[in-house]
Amino acid sequence: MFCFVLCCFVLCCFVLFCFDSSLWLKPRPLSKDGAEPRPAGSAKEQRRLLPPLPYRYLVNQAGLCRDRTPFLVFMVPVAPRDAAAREAVRKTWGAPSQDTLTLFFTGLPVMGERRSLQEELEQESRLYADIIQVDFMDSYQNLTLKTLMMMKWLGAHCSNASFAMKVDADIFVNVFHLRDRLRTSPRLGFITGSVIRDGRPRRDPWSKWYLSKELYPEDSFPPYVSGAGYVFSLDLAGRIFWASRYVQVIPLEDVYVGLCLRVLGVRPVYSRSMLFLRNLFEIQNLKYDRCTFAKLVIVNKFKPSELLQVWPDFLEGHARC
Ligand SMILES: *[C@@H]1O[C@H](CO)[C@@H](O)[C@H](O)[C@H]1NC(C)=O
Ligand SMILES: *[C@@H]1O[C@H](CO)[C@@H](O)[C@H](O)[C@H]1NC(C)=O
Repeated sequence: MFCFVLCCFVLCCFVLFCFDSSLWLKPRPLSKDGAEPRPAGSAKEQRRLLPPLPYRYLVNQAGLCRDRTPFLVFMVPVAPRDAAAREAVRKTWGAPSQDTLTLFFTGLPVMGERRSLQEELEQESRLYADIIQVDFMDSYQNLTLKTLMMMKWLGAHCSNASFAMKVDADIFVNVFHLRDRLRTSPRLGFITGSVIRDGRPRRDPWSKWYLSKELYPEDSFPPYVSGAGYVFSLDLAGRIFWASRYVQVIPLEDVYVGLCLRVLGVRPVYSRSMLFLRNLFEIQNLKYDRCTFAKLVIVNKFKPSELLQVWPDFLEGHARC
């Protein structure tokens, strides 16, 4: 009997060893410096390397970080038609400053939009030099691709920056508080925002967030940061882009970044105020109050006109709160 158990044990070890070593022997991707470890996470991700994305930058600002090293880069996804939103961001939290840089990422005008839109966008880009356009249709479904092209851009053209924030144009960003907090944040492997730990795929085909079993067979999501606004150390931009070669694109941008983080073995960090344990990345819609906002990093859902309206008061008075 004992002999039998022993034999089983040895056999199991042997099988496990073969299985493990077969994983070790999988071809490893070559990054330029060879520094990236092999992907963590499920064995399935280790198996297939997806083809690279075929997209290009039609309008680019490749030289923006050549002569300067921003502390923080705002990456704002917008549709070509969102000129008013861009204008509001430029005049409020995204205003050019010593140590921050704001860039707008857009795709191509979609079918049915007016012909002149592309021309207007190029004109606006010549004026402000802050627009990057990628050559795919600007649709909700394609937002994940847009984020990936942002990550690629950061890694390729602004890798000396310290931090980047992916943030929607309808968000109030308290740049002052954000900058203060980032001064003491880790410069490597760091990502923070409103962390969602118990996310699950919606299997109802009528949901805006529908995800089929074919595209995503698992029953839950790894921890991820809500897409409205999240901040990360610059090293993660290139690493997330690298990891994306192992993760099938799904149309949920923020969940997708979470899947890439799992491949990298990086856990997103929740940001709370020390005093009230309040979520600093407020994804609720809050009525403007100067001193409440002074203690937060982002607040959701601001129309361009509302941003423009509250900003002068905030700028003038936030420091006295
Ligand atoms: C980034 O910083 C390094 C070291 O400070 C410097 O050698 C390099 O030229 C910088 N690259 C860019 C694109 O500014
Ligand atoms: C995403 O962009 C590609 C390339 O332009 C386009 O073929 C595709 O239809 C877009 N997807 C959606 C869902 O809009």
